[in-house]
Amino acid sequence: MKGLQNKRVFITGAASGIGRATAERFYAEGSELVLVDMPTLEQAELQSLFPNRMTYISGDVTKSETLDAIKAEMTKGVDVLINNAGITKDATLLKMTDEQWDAVIAVNLTSIFKLSKAAAEVMKAAGKGGSIIMLLQLLLITETLVKQITQQQKQVSLPWPKRWLKN
Ligand SMILES: NC(=O)c1ccc[n+]([C@@H]2O[C@H](COP(=O)([O-])OP(=O)(O)OC[C@H]3O[C@@H](n4cnc5c(N)ncnc54)[C@H](O)[C@@H]3O)[C@@H](O)[C@H]2O)c1
Repeated sequence: MKGLQNKRVFITGAASGIGRATAERFYAEGSELVLVDMPTLEQAELQSLFPNRMTYISGDVTKSETLDAIKAEMTKGVDVLINNAGITKDATLLKMTDEQWDAVIAVNLTSIFKLSKAAAEVMKAAGKGGSIIMLLQLLLITETLVKQITQQQKQVSLPWPKRWLKN
């Protein structure tokens, strides 16, 4: 990939899975990384994986102190934001608790809105554009719920896009 050298790339949920693999690829391309993940995860391992050009923000993206730390880094420049942090609370509609639902919305939706807005503001002010990417699990959760409703109660009608109702 051309053009990623020296780009400032923010990746949430970067300590494992897709986030870490994405960080490795951008690092190989010469990008400057700002990685975010929960404090319980091993920061030292990432530091050895990315010895230079990497800032690690240890925190929960649903917490204001973490968002403030990310925004402070963004003021130094942001070319790419990858909203990768996500959680799944896999439960059927009738079993899912309000707390589980709220937790998913907080990580998979609200934090993405807040970080994307913050990044867009900096990108707009810098006047050179940028990319904001989202890896959304929320759609899958909603799709699962809708499928369950439509299978169990055929008369229920919801205003979801038809695509969500397909198997
Ligand atoms: N793996 C898949 O098949 C798949 C499919 C569709 C969408 N996705 C989405 O892609 C993203 C990455 O998936 P993955 O399989 O690599 O997930 P993963 O669970 O392996 O990694 C997610 C990372 O996000 C971090 N994280 C979770 N909540 C956080 C929070 N509140 N604050 C900071 N960090 C937090 C976790 O600590 C973890 O390191 C997720 O958003 C997921 O919903 C994954």
